[in-house]
Order: sequence, then structure tokens, then C-alpha cells
Amino acid sequence: MQGLGAVVLAAGQGKRMRSDTPKVLHRAAGAPLVCHVLDAVKEAGITETIVVIGQGSEVVRAALGPDYTYALQEEQLGTGDAVKKSLPHLSADCQEVLVVCGDTPLLKPETLAALVRVRRETGAAAAVLTSIFDDPQGYGRVLRNEDNMVEAIVEDRDAAEDQKLVQEINTGTYIFTRKALEATICRLQPDNKQGEYYLTDCIHLLREAGSPVTAVIAPAGETEGINTRVQLAAAERILRERECLRLMEDGVTICDPSTTYIDKGVQVGQDTVIYPFTFLEGKTRVGKGCVIGPGTRLSSAILEEGVFVQYSVVVESTIGKGCQIGPFAYLRPGNVLSDQVKIGDFVELKKTTVGLGSKIPHLSYIGDTTVGAHVNIGAGTITCNYDGVKKYQTTIDDGAFIGSNANLVAPVSVGKDAVIGAGSTITKDVLPESLAIERAKQTVIPNWMQKKKEKGEQEK
Ligand code: UD1
Ligand code: CA
Repeated sequence: MQGLGAVVLAAGQGKRMRSDTPKVLHRAAGAPLVCHVLDAVKEAGITETIVVIGQGSEVVRAALGPDYTYALQEEQLGTGDAVKKSLPHLSADCQEVLVVCGDTPLLKPETLAALVRVRRETGAAAAVLTSIFDDPQGYGRVLRNEDNMVEAIVEDRDAAEDQKLVQEINTGTYIFTRKALEATICRLQPDNKQGEYYLTDCIHLLREAGSPVTAVIAPAGETEGINTRVQLAAAERILRERECLRLMEDGVTICDPSTTYIDKGVQVGQDTVIYPFTFLEGKTRVGKGCVIGPGTRLSSAILEEGVFVQYSVVVESTIGKGCQIGPFAYLRPGNVLSDQVKIGDFVELKKTTVGLGSKIPHLSYIGDTTVGAHVNIGAGTITCNYDGVKKYQTTIDDGAFIGSNANLVAPVSVGKDAVIGAGSTITKDVLPESLAIERAKQTVIPNWMQKKKEKGEQEK
């Protein structure tokens, strides 16, 4: 949107959260509250954004990164003061200012766009986004005159008893012409119960000066502010529902959305089925036709098409087409699996590459390892990759067969089509096509039980 800048207020500590973390960095659906707001602003087509920071300014800035302009509000003197601090950072051609609180993560971009449009159409000096709440307690109330025009906003704490009955609340989102904002913001006074400079007072200052102010009423489900952990949990639920809805509309089956936790922005391909108690987190991308869950956590994992994962955890790993994972597998960061790989029950993998069609079906730890194609790793195989000081690499070449309960003491390599006898502890490299076996010779004493019994009889 040309000539329009957004100011996002994110300088408060959020006392009602009772937290060491600045409120706007508390997470819902996998992202900090303020990121939901910034995304909505961006999706509404607004490119100039100033974030007002103060409490924990360095952590907030670090979390949001270099894409925004930051204005510092060193002392939290109120929302009016916060906006004032942003004004010097607005670009010269910015004629309109959208103000949004960093703690209203449910706002949708189309609602912001509607607010902008209505102000432009009516030519008002400002437009306020409002909602009708069953329980308006804690919010600023919107006061209208007999012609239904917005006259003022009164904060909950400053409201008279009859004003508290008003159910139309201020959502904390507004659009002002830059001129109207600059003309009123320097006239704010901290003459209220909290002794703060309220941005909301700009509204009656504009009305006093005879400037028209309009309002847009947004659905209540989009405008709740987060001041407490209870409100945070409520927002989390709504955002998660939205993510499930988005994926279902894109052709993903979600058996039970109420027990499926999908972070904002996770991608899932068509005809994938997600079973209950599943978490898809971070930058996870799931291909088409996969079956995920039940009981699975994928964290920044990339799954190609047709992957099956059940009761497993996959973190920062890439899984090729048609792989089967679990139940009860744990893929720690840094694994790359080719197509058609099978990782079975009680297998832990770390920083390991596995080639086409290889199988690690049960009870293994494979770390810092390169496994070739069509390798079979028997139950109980351990790569001993750590000597207490350093980590070492293991290489298992194409077609190798590792017998059950083998220890591969790294650094070590097993050649192409080589075989490791079950129970061996392998400390030296194994040449291709050879058999390596490290095992004491088995001794069998015939009729041992009988002899034992006879000895017992004699001693009686
Ligand atoms: C504010 C509104 C209230 C509205 C509600 C909607 C005012 C005076 N009140 O109240 O009418 O119903 O939002 O959710 O504006 N902030 C700063 N600097 C400050 C103070 C606040 O950056 O000095 C930021 C906070 O970090 C927060 C936002 O502004 O993201 C809103 O502040 P908050 O204290 O939560 O205001 P409310 O009491 O909820
Ligand atoms: Ca608030």
C-alpha cells in the first residue's frame, strides 16, 4: 500500500503475564505474538513497518530480525507516547499511519485492509477497529454520540459505571491520517488513573477539533488482546484451529483437529492423513500422500511424498519418498534419508545419511554415519561414535549386512557387500565382500548336566 506506514507497539513488559520474557515474544502456534501481527500487516500489503520496542528491546529486536525499522521507547509512558516515538522514523511520503498493538495476534490481514479502505472512502481523520464483546471488561470502551459517530474511547479503569456497560470495545488498532496523528499526539496528557499518555485520547481530541472519526466493527474472534496466560491459551487454540482449517481446505485429512498441533506456516501436501496427537512444528514441510501419526512430532523436518511416520520424533531431518519411520523412532538433527528407507522401532539416528532402500528395523543407535544403499542393519547395532572426548565417523557401504548386536567402533568403515557377524565388536576397517567376525569360539560340553547331577549324588 502506497503512502501508508504501520506502527506496531511492542515496548511493554506485559506485567499481567508475570514473566521475565517480554509479552510480545510469548508464543502461540509456534510464533511470537508480535510475529502474527507483523505477518498480518505484511499480508495486508503494507511494506513500511516500524516496531516500537522498549522492555527487553534487544531480545525483541533479535527475535524479529533486520526486516523492520525499530523505534526505541525507553520508558513505557503509554501507548500514545509509544506512537509518538515512532513518528520520526516514518518515511517522507507516508500519509497514513496504521497503529496495531503487538499483543493482538488474531487479527486478519483482510480486516486491516478493510479498516484502511473505510477510512479512505469516508475521508475521516481516523478509523478505529472495534468489536462487540459479551465480556468487555479490561478493554477501552467506544463511546458514540446520538448520530452513532465515534466520540471518544474511555479506558476500563477510567470508565464510569454506565460507560462500563458499553459492549463495543477498542481493539487497539487504528488508522490515522499522518496529519491528524501529528496534530493530536503532542497534545496528549497523562491525566488518568494510570498516569499514562493514552493513544486513545487522540480520538476525542480529533472530535473536539471537528474532525470526523469512523469505526469498523471486526468479529470478536479476531480482536482479543493478550494480557494474561489465560488469554494466551485461548488465542493459541484459535490460531491452531485456523492452521488445521487451512490445511484441510488444501486437501489434507486431519482426523482430530482438536489434538493436532500445527505451527503457523507449516506446509503439508494434498491427501496426506494426519492422525491424532501429532505436532508439526517450525519449518516442517510434508509432501503429498503421507501418513503422519498418531503420536508424532515433526520439528523443522522435510518429508517427501508417501512417507509413513507413527509414534516418532523427527527433528531437523530430511526424509525421502516412501520411507517408513517408527513406531518409536527418534531422529535427532542432521539426518538425510534417501527414498524407501525403513527406520523401525527403538532406533535413534543422528547426523546420519542413509541410502536408497536401506533398513534399520529395530533397536539401534546410528550416529555420525554414512550408510549406503540397500544396507541391512541388524537389531541392536550400535555405532560407538564417541570416546568421551571426540566424535568419529562410521561408513557402511552399499549392500553391506550388519549382523545383530554389532558394535562398530568409529572411526571405522565397512566395505561394499561386506558382512559383519552377529555380536561382533568391529574396530578395524572391513574390506568389501568380506566377512568380519569377532567372537570367542563357542564351546559345547556334551552331557554336562548329567555329569553335574552325578557329582552331586556322590557328595551327599
Ligand atoms: C489497550 C488500549 C485499550 C484497548 C486494548 C486492546 C490504550 C490506552 N488502551 O489497552 O483501549 O481496548 O489495548 O487490546 O491504548 N505499549 C508500548 N508502550 C507503552 C505501553 C504499551 O509499546 O508505553 C504496547 C504494549 O507492548 C502492547 C500494546 O502497546 O503491545 C498495548 O498495551 P497494553 O498495556 O496491553 O494496553 P491495554 O491495557 O491492553
Ligand atoms: Ca493489551
